[in-house]
Amino acid sequence: MATEWTTSHGLDVHLDLDSSGLGRRAAIEDALRTAIQDGRLGAGAALPSTRSLARDLAVARGTATEAYEQLVAEGWLTARRGSGTVVAWTGEGAGGPRAVRRPAEDPPTSIHNLRPGSPDVSSFPRQEWSAAVRRALRTAPDSAFGYGDARGLAGVREAVAGYLARARGVRADPERLVICGGFVQGLSLLAGTFRDLGITTVGMENPCMTAYRDLTARAGLTVRFLDVDDDGADPARLDGPAGRGVGAVFVTPAHQYPTGTTLSPLRRAALAVWARTVDGYVVEDDYDGELRYDRQPVGALQAIDPDRVVYVGTASKSLAPGLRLGWMVLPEPLVAPITLAKELADRQNGVVEQLALAELITSGGLDRHIRRARLRYRRRRDDLIAALAQVPAVRARGIAAGLHAVLDLPADGPSEADVLAALAADGVAADGLSRYWHRAGPRPSGLVVGFGAPSEHAFPAALDALVGALARCYR
Ligand SMILES: Cc1ncc(COP(=O)(O)O)c(C=O)c1O
Repeated sequence: MATEWTTSHGLDVHLDLDSSGLGRRAAIEDALRTAIQDGRLGAGAALPSTRSLARDLAVARGTATEAYEQLVAEGWLTARRGSGTVVAWTGEGAGGPRAVRRPAEDPPTSIHNLRPGSPDVSSFPRQEWSAAVRRALRTAPDSAFGYGDARGLAGVREAVAGYLARARGVRADPERLVICGGFVQGLSLLAGTFRDLGITTVGMENPCMTAYRDLTARAGLTVRFLDVDDDGADPARLDGPAGRGVGAVFVTPAHQYPTGTTLSPLRRAALAVWARTVDGYVVEDDYDGELRYDRQPVGALQAIDPDRVVYVGTASKSLAPGLRLGWMVLPEPLVAPITLAKELADRQNGVVEQLALAELITSGGLDRHIRRARLRYRRRRDDLIAALAQVPAVRARGIAAGLHAVLDLPADGPSEADVLAALAADGVAADGLSRYWHRAGPRPSGLVVGFGAPSEHAFPAALDALVGALARCYR
């Protein structure tokens, strides 16, 4: 069996020319049919010219031409004047080239996604992003596309630092800034680095994301918890004798996840003092800091003590989680070890996304998008609160910012699990508050309801379904 490559129109086509008894022409036809059938060559894919195919496969040009003509006659390929030969059939569905492509199965339409954590990805600013990509590709120097600084491109770090200083009050030095793959990669790099630096135990808020607790534990760190009350996380309530042995704490000061409280000025100061006292670090997860609705904007905790507070931000709520873009602003002693960890993890974030982000920032497109998003989510938040007036037994809190609300459920009503089951029966997906709880004993009973994920047209129906199901639970 001969295995050959041919390249044209930017496409690499790997053809297995099985010569078992077949002539060259038949072998080419067979190999192309197989490549189309198994999806390696999709509908519309441009094939090499017969001249380059013949050259690459070392066959006569007439052989290549005849093979194409046969496949065109069979309906696998289409020959277009001026634009060459392209694949006509995608290979999906059963049968052969004349088979009708089956439409993808409809996604389950009954699900109203009110789980927290996601913005409305249907409002991702595609136009602005593609314009930013184009501008970036036009103007970036060749060197941008090489192996570069693991912290990210210098110009991108400058743009992000300027944005963070302006929009979030971060004391952002581009030299201390590392572009990373969202908060989750930041957490992973920090956990490993803390461990390497001799920190064995870290604190996390209770309640908090279970996945982050697990990720930290998997990095070999012991996790202790600090309880959250109406003033936010309290370092005085860190597990263990005065939190002894804890070298870093992870907090969500602007909008505690999931309770939605804001860290009070006293607690901010207490956390900074705690970090100095134990010679440790506070990690500030500012996941939805841009999305604040009612009160004065709450600036970053990091500004209080940039030598003790690690600031971590993300594009996951303000733009889209699928971008996997985030950033860390680090105290000086962490810059070199985190840069090394990032280098070892994946060398650097993809430069096209980095460049597009910087373009979006410097053109003002990011600010415009966030202002639009803020208005949209505030309206949704208001609609949620107004609709919940029909269910007086359920109280919403944590709603001054972000993309979710906590709904406290009355102790004398159905259990959290029963309420979730009632929602699910009506096609509504939300989270139970108890899943974020990390202490033994009784757990709070509530719902964490996201209002970000549905598209604009899907949101009203999702809200109706939620309120309808709750009303049945509490009538
Ligand atoms: C508490 C918290 N932090 C951070 C994030 C963002 O994570 P990432 O940037 O990895 O998408 C989320 C997303 O749901 C979150 O809930």
